[in-house]
Amino acid sequence: MTIECSLEKNRVQELEQLLKPAVDLIINYVKDIDNGKRDIGPRFENPKDLYNIFELNNLGSLFEQSVQTGSEDPSVEILQVFQKVLNNSISTWHPGFMDKLYVGTNPIGVLSDLLLSVLNTNSHVFTVSPALSAIERKVSQKYASMFGFNGKYAGGLTFSGGSWSNITSMQIARSIKYPKTKIEGNGNHKFAIYTSAHSHYSIEKSAILLGFGANSVFKIPVNENGEMSMEFLEKRILSTIDDGYTPLYINATAGTTVFGSFDPFTEISKICSKYNIWFHIDGSWGGNVIFSDIHKKRLEGCQLADSITVSPHKMLGVPTTCSFLLLPDERIFTQSNSLNAPYLFHNSIDDDENFDLANGTMGCGRRADSLKMYLSWLYYGNEGFAKRINHSYEIANYFVSKLNNIKGFKLVNNFPIPCLQVCFYYNPKPDVKLSGNENTALTRKIAIALHKSGEFLIDYAPNPNDSITGEDNGEFFRCVFNSPNITSDLVDKLVNHIVELANDL
Ligand SMILES: Cc1ncc(COP(=O)(O)O)c(C=O)c1O
Repeated sequence: MTIECSLEKNRVQELEQLLKPAVDLIINYVKDIDNGKRDIGPRFENPKDLYNIFELNNLGSLFEQSVQTGSEDPSVEILQVFQKVLNNSISTWHPGFMDKLYVGTNPIGVLSDLLLSVLNTNSHVFTVSPALSAIERKVSQKYASMFGFNGKYAGGLTFSGGSWSNITSMQIARSIKYPKTKIEGNGNHKFAIYTSAHSHYSIEKSAILLGFGANSVFKIPVNENGEMSMEFLEKRILSTIDDGYTPLYINATAGTTVFGSFDPFTEISKICSKYNIWFHIDGSWGGNVIFSDIHKKRLEGCQLADSITVSPHKMLGVPTTCSFLLLPDERIFTQSNSLNAPYLFHNSIDDDENFDLANGTMGCGRRADSLKMYLSWLYYGNEGFAKRINHSYEIANYFVSKLNNIKGFKLVNNFPIPCLQVCFYYNPKPDVKLSGNENTALTRKIAIALHKSGEFLIDYAPNPNDSITGEDNGEFFRCVFNSPNITSDLVDKLVNHIVELANDL
């Protein structure tokens, strides 16, 4: 008797029926954005409205039927849903998308993600992912060398986002500095973590995950440029030692989340050496300025780090997620994270090179995100990446110069902008001082009106300096210039739009 399953009998035909029209939908989607026929995407006041749009609530709806029996006419129904998802999403390819630190991807990004989906492999062990494991090793080595990690063993691995690269770096720091912890846990150590008051929350989450607790993270004040203060850092290290802590890890940020500041890496490295502390750089956002000869000076001293996070899914337009943790000696991935798991890793550890990549991580299954960086790098080259970054800085500076010349705009990061965010307030009646609450209300109203206009999406944030100065200035706009598609004309339009909307309000 032959045992067979009726599913996927005609998968070549099914693939054609789904993929070919979907490709047309995708191409038309981008074409419409570029022709000005598709806007930034809808704003939902009530997230639950989407339950209705997708008929996720109604008994007897297509959703309810299909999840029982499968779709009756998949090539039609699934493609309808496909289109509906496009229509009810934010168009990150739209040049007016200036909301977050990532942005829409590009043709090579789409192709690389498609290839990963077709292979649907798991890059945990070499046997099932030979090409992708070899690519990950070599791309990581090349990437590490950009940051000055040039030794024989320099390299890296990808993790599912900057947060996971940071978390892994902290776990590695503990394992390498205090090897017994891998077996015995934190023991009597009260580990201390130091990071700037403006750093990303993933540092605090890492400390929670590793059992140190959020209180073990000491937030170091920043100077007027948003950079970690060295004076406070050393004082804090000494005071925590007095309080019985074991200093473990300093996180320095390359491109802070709100202001985009770069901490002083060379000085931090000296402090790390003095107190035997792991030196990590979170370059999730700003690390990729390394590709620009003009702007990479901001990363001076990065080669002194023990580990660096850098995420092509933010500044380089590589599809989410794609984040690397780079190390001067990648052998410590396995030293700190491997377990004896012979059911998975068969003879995995070569003397020199580990090709069973999950052996160096705390996870198991992994998507081969490095392929996306590899193909993008081949496509654009260092020169293309540099062009992208230089353009973004140029356009962000153009925006700054405009704001400086129009009454009512007040720049918050009013120093030569370190990265691609511009933070500012707008008050249409500059002679009248607004309270914090008034600033917040006005900022939010304008941001929402910009979104509703269909042309721009920009975010707002509380002023991180307020928690230091004790003032309450309220929330400001944080506008991110991270796309080759932003032109000076678009910037002019944005400024005019803000002024008009504020007057109407
Ligand atoms: C400085 C910095 N580090 C880390 C992260 C976290 O990265 P991800 O969102 O990829 O987890 C962010 C996110 O914006 C960030 O700005």
